[in-house]
Amino acid sequence: MAAAESDSKSLFSLDSYHVSQELGFILPDPLEELPPYYQPWMDIALRVPELVLSHELRFHINKMPLLSSHFLQKHRELRLAHLALSVMTMGYTWQEGESNTVEKLPQNLAVPYWEVSQRLGLPPILTHADAVLANWRKKDPEGNLELLLSLPGGDSVRGFFMVTLLVELAAVPALRNIPTVINGVRCGDSEAVARALEEVSQSIQEMTDALKLMHWWKDNPCMPKGLIYDGVQPEPMEYSGGSAAQSSLLHCFDELLGIKHEAKSGAFLTRMRNYMPPAHKQLIQDISLQPSLKSFVHQQDSERLNRAFQHCVTKLLALRNYHINIVSRFITVPAARARQLRNQSQDSEGEMISRAPTALEERGTGGSGIMIFLKTVRDQTKDAFLPETSKEMKHHS
Ligand code: HEM
Repeated sequence: MAAAESDSKSLFSLDSYHVSQELGFILPDPLEELPPYYQPWMDIALRVPELVLSHELRFHINKMPLLSSHFLQKHRELRLAHLALSVMTMGYTWQEGESNTVEKLPQNLAVPYWEVSQRLGLPPILTHADAVLANWRKKDPEGNLELLLSLPGGDSVRGFFMVTLLVELAAVPALRNIPTVINGVRCGDSEAVARALEEVSQSIQEMTDALKLMHWWKDNPCMPKGLIYDGVQPEPMEYSGGSAAQSSLLHCFDELLGIKHEAKSGAFLTRMRNYMPPAHKQLIQDISLQPSLKSFVHQQDSERLNRAFQHCVTKLLALRNYHINIVSRFITVPAARARQLRNQSQDSEGEMISRAPTALEERGTGGSGIMIFLKTVRDQTKDAFLPETSKEMKHHS
């Protein structure tokens, strides 16, 4: 009995990582309302897109009361509060576009935002964990989804958050199988590992299929200096904007499959882990500490296991290739067009053309342009192939 108990204790499971069996990293049943005391926040947060368009958001936020965060108790209350305060902060900062950003966030927003962030272990900025994981509800009994809060940009922004949510959903079977892989390696059950890896690769394929729904999306502008969070600290603070690089999914797969990133791009990806809910970051860390799956596959000499492992790497590579494709369509091509238009037009007209795509293209992913970054990450994925078939697979990708 004691032995069985200690065996079951040592089994790897997702229980303590805030991962749901049905929804993975997505927050189950996000709240749609906060306790009534916080109505002034929700009244504004729900209207951010229209108040930005009418240039009234800063005015409304400036006269909002300074509320204590202490009446927020449950995890889901804190997540909705973080989402609402994040959306307000984004709108406040960018209300006037690139030409007139603010240097300071008012106290009545900055102080509660800081406190809620501290309690959740998230930074005080809109993250993937807010905009995607905690920002959904069922629209109808059929289970169609819609967002709780949005930003200016209409369908483009909604589409971007929604597709990213669908990618998270498609990854749930892969996540559920990670403990089976780890436990199978621990007890030397190569059939169980092979079966689980087959499910992982199938699920990564479904993530790519979900990614193919991405037809729209507009860029976001840039901000050279950090932002002062008034009442928190006098120096400006800098945080990276939200990105699906903050999704815990690919981090988990990389650690499971033993994908090692090059120094600079690896440092960027590691930094993105600080933008994840701490329990999810911990899961990635704990997967990285497990006995090596790749060495296990190598030692077992099972054709099925070999094939299942190679398939996972192939599918992950295909996902990253498809993503590069999207980024080139949505950023690189518009950036080139904007540069060309600016060069052709008269000075004042040229200034009117948004710098956003070019700024995004050059943005700080560890010092390199985004394409170099994404291609480096993709190429490191290829290095995870098992040696014997490595040449052949690299040839095909
Ligand atoms: C129009 C759509 C998209 C654009 C323009 C885009 C753009 C980018 C950019 C510029 C980066 C570089 C890192 C950064 O700047 O933060 C990045 C990274 C990343 N994106 Fe996207 N993205 C899009 C959609 C998605 C979706 C739907 C997902 C799905 C979860 C996704 C997953 C990732 C991941 C995992 C990374 C980290 C790099 C890697 O691990 O390969 N992206 N994306």
